[in-house]
Amino acid sequence: MSENPKSSEEQTEKKVPSTKKRFSVKEAEALGYYDFMSYLGVLYYHIGGLTSSKKLAELCQIDSTKKILMVGCGTGFSACYLARKIGCEVVGIDIAELSIEEAKERAKRQGVSDKAKFRVGDTYALPFKAGTFDAVITEFVSQFLDRERAFKEFSRVLKPGAYVGINEMYREKGIPAKAAEEIAQAEKKFIEITGLPFSLSSPEEWKEELERSGLKDVKVRMCKPSQHLQEIKNMAEAMGGTWIFVKYLIDLILKMVKYSLLSRKIRYRFKRLGEGKKILLRKKSTSKYVGYVLATGRKYL
Ligand SMILES: C[S@@+](CC[C@H](N)C(=O)[O-])C[C@H]1O[C@@H](n2cnc3c(N)ncnc32)[C@H](O)[C@@H]1O
Repeated sequence: MSENPKSSEEQTEKKVPSTKKRFSVKEAEALGYYDFMSYLGVLYYHIGGLTSSKKLAELCQIDSTKKILMVGCGTGFSACYLARKIGCEVVGIDIAELSIEEAKERAKRQGVSDKAKFRVGDTYALPFKAGTFDAVITEFVSQFLDRERAFKEFSRVLKPGAYVGINEMYREKGIPAKAAEEIAQAEKKFIEITGLPFSLSSPEEWKEELERSGLKDVKVRMCKPSQHLQEIKNMAEAMGGTWIFVKYLIDLILKMVKYSLLSRKIRYRFKRLGEGKKILLRKKSTSKYVGYVLATGRKYL
């Protein structure tokens, strides 16, 4: 993959300060889950971070000549990263309006507005002509969707030979009933806080679901969460340097503490989020059955 030749100074977040509006506690409570998290400044949600975003792009054979669609792009952190690192054209779409606002600002701050474009839109009715993209990518989005409807819609907007690439969580099949029950409880917690359907497929089911939409050459790679120093370095670099990243983290924590202290509703959301994440990612007896897949499939005529 070719690197975008922009200088490292041009590539940082520090150039244009964010002009984000401040929300009162009542206004913040009324926001949808992902709009609220984008308002706080959460960069991304998928496991594996920018390293897995780059890996997935490689698996989909993305280079600087390609045009990709990132469905459920959130605040555009991975989309801007891929536009910057690979030089590909990226279109990001998300149903959460504040996330898209932030994504557009991020593209400006990173100097990639010409390559990374964002718009509000729904996965199930993508506002693009058939055969537009070289790849459609989702990162922690398809697990919230009706797979059959979504993958068919992804297929529609792909060029022949182009890829669907997904980074989504899995839970293994045939696991002990107690672990299965706890994982189901975690799914319910995420449904409650996001207001979206949420269910984890097994790696075999992800394969079937991609194939059922007509995609061919489907490959599913199982991955386990791990915290690499390299990933933290990637994030700091994407933010414009270590100190900007540290300042960002402090701001994020302070905002989370502030809204938790001032709002019982928001405190409850964070509590539920923590409980769900613990079951899926940290508790040994359950998290050993959970991971994420980097899966790809191709559209053939
Ligand atoms: C877990 S977040 C992942 C965001 C981003 N891909 C990332 O990795 O950080 C799920 C995203 O999917 C978006 N989403 C959910 N349902 C959607 C739909 N029907 N159409 C478009 N976006 C949707 C949410 O607004 C949210 O930004």
